Amino acid sequence: MRSASIAECGHEESNAVKETQLLDIHDLVVHFLREEQVVKAVDGVDLRVKPGESVGLVGESGSGKTVLSRSIARLMANAVIDKMSGQVVFQNTDLLSLSERELERRRRKSFLSMVFQDPLGYLNPTKRVGRQVAEALPPELSRRSRRHRVAELFTQVGLPGDKASLRLYPHEFSGGMRQRVLIAMALASRPRLLIADEPTTALDVTVQVQVLNTLERLHREQDMALLVITHDLALVAELCDRVYVMYAGQIVESGDVETVLSSPHHPYTQGLIASMPGQRRRMNKVDGLVGSVPNLALLPSGCRFRSRCPHAFDRCEEMPPLMPTSTGSTSRCWLSEPEAEGEDPS
Ligand SMILES: Nc1ncnc2c1ncn2[C@@H]1O[C@H](COP(=O)(O)OP(=O)(O)OP(=O)(O)O)[C@@H](O)[C@H]1O
Ligand SMILES: [Mg+2]
Repeated sequence: MRSASIAECGHEESNAVKETQLLDIHDLVVHFLREEQVVKAVDGVDLRVKPGESVGLVGESGSGKTVLSRSIARLMANAVIDKMSGQVVFQNTDLLSLSERELERRRRKSFLSMVFQDPLGYLNPTKRVGRQVAEALPPELSRRSRRHRVAELFTQVGLPGDKASLRLYPHEFSGGMRQRVLIAMALASRPRLLIADEPTTALDVTVQVQVLNTLERLHREQDMALLVITHDLALVAELCDRVYVMYAGQIVESGDVETVLSSPHHPYTQGLIASMPGQRRRMNKVDGLVGSVPNLALLPSGCRFRSRCPHAFDRCEEMPPLMPTSTGSTSRCWLSEPEAEGEDPS
């Protein structure tokens, strides 16, 4: 997992526009070119996060979650982009419209930070952890406030903030502690939004719980919005207010976590829930998922889930739009149309 401080994004304290959405992604498209094929990793995604809200983004491996989260901050280095369009409005500024120079200028004073998984770790092995966190702080701070703030950040993420601990090197820390260092770095700029991509996947279960509790506490105490990206619906249930379910580059369902988990509309969401440990018996009418996400360079026409869907019918050859459901969520499935609901699809 690594952390990166991303962009200040044009926030003016005096801005008269009342901020109802902290992050407002509209019709985001990110297509790559790979071996002369177009990989539709993100294909027309809308996603919103309100100030102080905790939002989950779930989906199986290869559904486009990481590409989506990295595109928010335009961290698509080395990718061969075929098409990138849409809007990523963060604090009233469209990040996609900024020039590289402008984006870079804002990077140091970030109100948006990311923590993401990386098996090799992105901490510099030759630098003391305290120094690495200090380097993520705004440059104008004095030495004294810098030292004080690093100790404060360490304590906030549940690490000892004493001088001796700050002088340790990354290899002298455990995996969970290193992740906390990365979270501390991400928090250095006091972000209004923290994007955490698979923040706990590489950790053992006890450490996972500790790191999640830390994120939850920071979200609550500092009114920091969270966008949590994960395979794990149980984690979303624990941590999030709302959830977006992503499949093959598209959002297929979204809504309040409680609503979506108790009354999932999209067969993919139903499958994800049925695949959760301990759910199979409770949801005996729904099977877990069979097969895997299609190749994003060779997508079928119509509904992208239809080859795996137990309820597929003729109309699925046409792509369904995201539509409002009877429970207040949205679902990209023809069976979620008001007149279709209540019918037995099988
Ligand atoms: N730089 C790139 N060039 C070409 N294709 C890419 C690039 N980065 C990602 N992809 C493709 O985009 C698709 C989505 O990948 P992504 O990493 O976003 O999935 P994910 O949902 O995060 O999966 P996981 O849960 O395994 O992390 C995959 O098919 C992947 O191969
Ligand atoms: Mg990923």
